[in-house]
Amino acid sequence: MTAPNHPSPERYPLAMAAGAMAPVGVFDSGVGGLSVLRALRQLLPNEKLLFLADQAHVPYGSRPLAQVQGFAEGIVHYLLAQGAKLVVVACNTASAAALQRMRLDFPGLPFVGMEPAVKPAAETTRSGAVGVLATPATFQGALYASVVERFAQGVRVLQHTCPGLVAQIEAGQLKAPETRRILEDALLPMLAEGIDTVVLGCTHYPFVIPLIEQIAGPGVRVIDPAPAVARQAGRILDALALRNPHASAGSVTYLTSGDPAALQAMLPKLIGESAPVRGVRWDEARGSLEPLAG
Ligand code: DGL
Repeated sequence: MTAPNHPSPERYPLAMAAGAMAPVGVFDSGVGGLSVLRALRQLLPNEKLLFLADQAHVPYGSRPLAQVQGFAEGIVHYLLAQGAKLVVVACNTASAAALQRMRLDFPGLPFVGMEPAVKPAAETTRSGAVGVLATPATFQGALYASVVERFAQGVRVLQHTCPGLVAQIEAGQLKAPETRRILEDALLPMLAEGIDTVVLGCTHYPFVIPLIEQIAGPGVRVIDPAPAVARQAGRILDALALRNPHASAGSVTYLTSGDPAALQAMLPKLIGESAPVRGVRWDEARGSLEPLAG
């Protein structure tokens, strides 16, 4: 997780102008962001959450970082236009590609981003070997390199990109034989090397934790950073006095740049509830998101 160190109202005029009643924007390339949304709702039940899945462009992880940066910038413009007071980048890949740049381009808006949770893994491993699962773009980014350099001295960090896993999860194939094969390809060599911790460095992966635990067995700890990200979002809102004061105001608006009906059908499976999903359209020429007509 990555976030500003000392959030103060003077630093974030856009957030202060939006006010405590404004929504918290949350985005990902797809359904992965729902694993973070779930934690945000648990910890911040009074907030209005605006969740955007950029499913027109999923997966992000095999794309060049510059292209993902363009998508992220377009999404943040859109969330800002909807009055967001805080943006949670519920995507390791978009954080790797664009977080630094977004903080420069939108200095008045606070962001909570994600980075693979190598630090807690390195602090608690007993075997001295940890495995990180993330997308190729996340592993390429400077953020990951700096996390490993700062926090994993003396610890062996093994990595795997799990090709095809994001697509399986987008398709709701949480227990399919192909999903198991992808995870076994990633985990069995790491387990043979003695890892005792698996870091989920992609927000899609918490949806296959049961399968990961089956493959890895009881001696292996699986780290999902979503609760820590939600706590950081809460700390920022508190520091800026921007928590929604209404006891019963919590709600989620679901948006996708892909097929709204398909995302709507996935919600019960992934987060155990039904809700309407609205479409937004990615305008290729302008590099921006527009509401769908009608
Ligand atoms: N959920 C994303 C992440 O945390 C992106 C996966 C993808 O689109 O490749 O990295």
